[in-house]
Amino acid sequence: MEQQVCLFIEFISKPNVMSATETLDKKIATTDFLPLLGTDYIEFYVGNAKQAAHFYKTAFGFQSLAYAGPETGCRDKASYAIRQHKLTFVFTTPLRPGNEIAEHVHKHGDGIRAIALRVADATAAWTETTKRGAESYMMPHHYKDDHGTVVMSGIKIYGDTVHLFIERENYDGPFMPGFRAWESNYNPTSTGLLHVDHCVGNVGWGQMEKWVKFYADTMGFRNILSFDDKDISTEYSALMSKVMSNGNGYVKFPINEPAEGKKKSQVEEYLEFYGGEGVQHVALATNNIIETVSELQRRGIEFLRVPGNYYDTVLERVGHIDEDLAPLRELGVLIDRDDEGYLLQIFTKPVEDRPTLFFEIIQRKGAKSFGKGNFKALFEAIEREQEVRGNL
Ligand code: FE2
Repeated sequence: MEQQVCLFIEFISKPNVMSATETLDKKIATTDFLPLLGTDYIEFYVGNAKQAAHFYKTAFGFQSLAYAGPETGCRDKASYAIRQHKLTFVFTTPLRPGNEIAEHVHKHGDGIRAIALRVADATAAWTETTKRGAESYMMPHHYKDDHGTVVMSGIKIYGDTVHLFIERENYDGPFMPGFRAWESNYNPTSTGLLHVDHCVGNVGWGQMEKWVKFYADTMGFRNILSFDDKDISTEYSALMSKVMSNGNGYVKFPINEPAEGKKKSQVEEYLEFYGGEGVQHVALATNNIIETVSELQRRGIEFLRVPGNYYDTVLERVGHIDEDLAPLRELGVLIDRDDEGYLLQIFTKPVEDRPTLFFEIIQRKGAKSFGKGNFKALFEAIEREQEVRGNL
């Protein structure tokens, strides 16, 4: 994200003669009414934040970053922020019943409440989105401590999920005001996870277009890819998906809705168990998927497996890849190619008891797409899991 910040600032402030590409970049930057610098953090509302933070540190390789709770003057909730490279997760839990966080956990189980986006001006982000029809979640608010000021605002998106806009250029503390640095003697090593690649939302029957329009109208996103039920359907389970991207491509939100199949769509299963719309999966980028997934599996993370015969023909479909096929086969990593290159990806099983949130691990080698060539094998793997759960 730091690199993205620098790139962005560079192309909106460069005063000299520009090449055609730079002119185009400048045009995009100056016409983008919601310039986003990337994902700032992802906040989960959970039943036990202390244990969730321990799990993500241990299994995914995050480091302790910051803490807020009764010891810092926060009476009703506790939050733990953890970080790995440019990836920051925050786990927040209610300390008593009868508040918004407790109700969120009661209804949804552990889940993602906020996708926080880094901006240069959180007040403008709120003004520009709300005047275009987004519903306010939080008016711009200045949070201050000895380290400076963070400005935060927010809008509501699907279900009970929100986007926060975070302006932190004038802040040099560990995370944000209200938090203290979290020093821990327990520091598991990184698994090589780098940053958020994309966040996928599951919305209800017939709601995909509404949310596509929401991202286009209120946030200036554009639809870069679409998958209909012919692309994403197996014998039983179907869904439709459209990928929305912001102007500079740093932030991508695919939106899924269920489609009619012979049996229950995986999106429908999610909606039933999450109690409505919400984030289905977060894709985490790595530069070495073999090392990352080997380490995650060693630490107990469970992944969906496709049948071994997937690997018998995959290279005929995707052509040459730099990696040896054997470790990819052993780990269950999937491969797909588009016009610009290829990608390697794998999906965890749900990370909690409700069949809701899971993670994707992705390594892009030029490809900017999302693994359409793997959908069939993948969804058949998901259906086998649904069937075991009695939800197909
Ligand atoms: Fe994905």
